[in-house]
Amino acid sequence: MSLSSSAVTRDSITTRASEFFESRYGRPPETIAVSPGRINIIGEHVDYAGGLCLPAAVDRYLAVAAAPGRQIQMASELFAGHDHIADRNSIRPTGTWADHPLGVLRELIAGGLEGGLQMAVVSDIPPGSGLSSSAAIGVATTIAALEIAGREMEPYEVARLCRRSENEFLGVPSGLMDEVGCVMGKEGMALLFHADTEIVEGVRLPPTAAWLVCQSGIEHRLRGSAYADRPAEAARALKLARRTYPGLRSLVELEPAELEKLRLPPPLDIRARHIVGETLRVRLAVACLEAGNLEALGQLMITSHRSLARDMEVSLPELDRLVDIMMEAGCHGARLMGAGFGGAVLGLVSADMADEATEVVTERLRPALAAARRGGGVIHRVRVVTGALG
Ligand code: GLA
Repeated sequence: MSLSSSAVTRDSITTRASEFFESRYGRPPETIAVSPGRINIIGEHVDYAGGLCLPAAVDRYLAVAAAPGRQIQMASELFAGHDHIADRNSIRPTGTWADHPLGVLRELIAGGLEGGLQMAVVSDIPPGSGLSSSAAIGVATTIAALEIAGREMEPYEVARLCRRSENEFLGVPSGLMDEVGCVMGKEGMALLFHADTEIVEGVRLPPTAAWLVCQSGIEHRLRGSAYADRPAEAARALKLARRTYPGLRSLVELEPAELEKLRLPPPLDIRARHIVGETLRVRLAVACLEAGNLEALGQLMITSHRSLARDMEVSLPELDRLVDIMMEAGCHGARLMGAGFGGAVLGLVSADMADEATEVVTERLRPALAAARRGGGVIHRVRVVTGALG
């Protein structure tokens, strides 16, 4: 599945979810919860280390239609033929798509949620595309299950519950950025997310900015991937840094010069350099957004990409190439987005240049497209929208 080129709306995905539910269970759903995907403007591979990120919810949606049931039954339009039935009293990982909803349901049941659920999932967020389909399915499942049970939960609690499920049920040591973007996004705004204090501030996006997402077609999977090494390395670097700075709460409190003095062993030295530098770049990016300076913001995005490639070592030649192509097409900046090792590249372009840049990128990618992996090279302009509970 590729990023759809037709206009995607909450209404159209809600209708599709309702129809899909009815086709599976022979009755209409009782509720439909929708979560958008997210982009992250800058601040990559820092959330698990207490850094700053700038996510925003975008108009690619995932919907969960649901009704009460005796046990847990789940179906996904995307994984046709892979429906799943689970016993609510003994939920275990299956190694399939169903683990994302199962993990949050297990959390909810442990928190006192009663009864079972029939649910049907439809999505315009391609899995592994860097737009956070995993967070979106967790968020939409949580909201649907709470609605069926007549319960409410604060947006931040929903985000935390979904992250706990990722960390504990799926075994992915991810940070909270994806969930914060999907749940709390605001139309026309990025969220400045302080991962150490969990404070979220809205940052208005200049109307002159347009955001392009270009898929590499290389599906990244966080589970069992090298992603898990990065939070572990950040934790080791922090432990070593505390030998010199005992009160240090997170690496991002270090000035670049203090970090240099630590002489951390490789690769912890370069990982820490990325985390410290990226957090400074996020601060500068906020100033650029406030001043409407897209050129300077674009430069920060390029620097972020280089740091992710050189110091975090999470890029691939295909992603580097996409970044180059997007820059040649007139973007102010471009960078790999999300965990890396595949997924998507985010490009920043002036709104009045967005169509032209999209055409140029598509044209440049045409030869590669013939040989591209699933969905590779599809580029789309995304709009910043309100989150699931924003
Ligand atoms: C994934 C994780 C996030 C974050 C990014 C990298 O998307 O889920 O928590 O660590 O990678 O910035």
